[in-house]
Amino acid sequence: MARLLLLPGDGIGPEVTAEARRVAERLAPDLEILTAPFGGASYDELGTPLTPETLDLARTCDAVLMGAVGGPKWAAVPRHLRPEAGLLGLRAGMGVFANLRPAICFAALADASTLKREVVEGLDLMIVRELTGGVYFGRPRGIEALPGGGRRGIDTQVYDTDEIERVARVAFTLARGRRGKVTSCEKSNVMETGLLWRETVTDLHAREFADVTLEHMLADNAAMQLVKSPLQFDVILTDNLFGDILSDEAAQLTGSLGMLPSAALGAPGTPGLYEPIHGSAPDIAGLGIANPLGAILSLGMAFRWSLGRPDLSDRLTQAIEASLSAGDRTRDLGGALCTADMGEAVLSALQPRTGKGA
Ligand code: NAD
Ligand code: IPM
Ligand code: MN
Repeated sequence: MARLLLLPGDGIGPEVTAEARRVAERLAPDLEILTAPFGGASYDELGTPLTPETLDLARTCDAVLMGAVGGPKWAAVPRHLRPEAGLLGLRAGMGVFANLRPAICFAALADASTLKREVVEGLDLMIVRELTGGVYFGRPRGIEALPGGGRRGIDTQVYDTDEIERVARVAFTLARGRRGKVTSCEKSNVMETGLLWRETVTDLHAREFADVTLEHMLADNAAMQLVKSPLQFDVILTDNLFGDILSDEAAQLTGSLGMLPSAALGAPGTPGLYEPIHGSAPDIAGLGIANPLGAILSLGMAFRWSLGRPDLSDRLTQAIEASLSAGDRTRDLGGALCTADMGEAVLSALQPRTGKGA
């Protein structure tokens, strides 16, 4: 029996993962679902955002579904004990270096985006974000006092060729099963890591993926192109920091940040980490109005990439499409449904087939 580890986390994390859990129980009654403390909730209870026990469980389950972590409550906690540090530790500890963030504009939501319908209609792009390297993990880092007064903050952006190659390989391979195009985004005009990124991706492309179209784009231009004409993109390959920013931007093309799921994958055969890309949304936490679809779609990605059930992933996407077409929407999409009602709407859309025992 496959095992899914649920890490609800903080803020709206427990609210949206509760709906994903209901969907998982309906779609896969055999799935064993475990939960563990994580993020600020774990810090409050156990003094650390990621205990060795939670990390062990994450490594030994088939898939991990995380809600969100962080919030103002932990702003004064030392950085290494903050909820976000727990998330970085989990990603590094699981070795999930390739983060797939698909931005799909469901037909029913073409008018929900703040962009014009004709700009976003038919959007289906995949951001492949490097997740365990770059400036998020580079050393040295810290804030130090300067002898003459004042302080200095230091972050280090660092990439080795093998880190770039392994994530680029994921992007090229995905593109082969899609529309065959990769846009690699960096700042090779000003950054050494950007130049190495461009050269490494170019070499790998020539050696192994010449059948895929490769385009290089400076990351600032990519940010602009994403809102100008996003349909030009198929797979966007980029580093940890640019991927974080470009994926929030892409999310808004789909109608709401609450819509975007993600899958973080490592070596074949190791468990994947699945999470909606949004945060703990302190401004709406506790109100029960968050959009659970990013979390539910993340469960769908887990069925596809870790649990060997792409059929369930497809069924789930179809149910969400049907529900949105029927007009079901949370507030971020201009509707009035609360989180639990939206979860219920997805369950009802799944009902006809399960009801017949199909
Ligand atoms: P956020 O993503 O939490 O919220 C940004 C805006 O989007 C807010 O207005 C919020 O209400 C809205 N929003 C987000 N998810 C939504 C949903 N599912 N439904 C409806 N509206 C939604 O970003 P933030 O406010 O910059 O960060 C808050 C905290 O979350 C910070 O501590 C940050 O570090 C953390 N964070 C965690 C993750 C994660 O756990 N993966 C991701 C991003 C931010
Ligand atoms: C995300 C988040 C995280 C990141 C934070 C919370 C560490 O913004 O998953 O997009 O920056 O990767
Ligand atoms: Mn982010």
